[in-house]
Amino acid sequence: MQPHLILVGPMGAGKTTIGKALSGYLHLPFVDIDHLIVEKAGAAIPWIFDVEGEEGFRRRESAVLQEVLDGEPAIIATGGGIITMEHNRRVLRKLSGVVYLQTSIQQQFDRTAKDKNRPLLQTESPMQTLTDLMTAREPFYKEVAAFEVSTDSNRPKFVVEQISNYWKSL
Ligand code: S3P
Repeated sequence: MQPHLILVGPMGAGKTTIGKALSGYLHLPFVDIDHLIVEKAGAAIPWIFDVEGEEGFRRRESAVLQEVLDGEPAIIATGGGIITMEHNRRVLRKLSGVVYLQTSIQQQFDRTAKDKNRPLLQTESPMQTLTDLMTAREPFYKEVAAFEVSTDSNRPKFVVEQISNYWKSL
């Protein structure tokens, strides 16, 4: 049985867009961890951050990750901060189907600029925040992923083909 295909990478890397395209291309269900968290909580992500803090959100995120991994093979889009939890990194490191969607800070900024749904970016300088987050997190994306592709310079179709070829080789 083919393993799960799990997309990791920062906010605005295109995990949802590429994940949905891969789902159609590979005929596998698409699961978005952020969406599942919201569905289960019955509340939006900013609300969860407000009421439970980032810590509460991370607890929910880890639980949903485990649940999804225990399910049928799927294309799984993760949230950009999933790799901040050591436990999640340990889980992801063991899997072969983890793909890092790499992108530039400028692209991240352009893709997230108008979005009020990302609590961590409601700062005076989202550009600086994105830069700081990338510095802190990029080693973790690289640590858990066995394959990496840029969504910055490549067209979505090319990205999907690259990931599909990698996944089929597993
Ligand atoms: C977060 C990324 C978001 C979401 C939450 C926290 C992060 O997901 O999980 O706002 O810590 O980078 P996306 O990467 O899908 O935007």
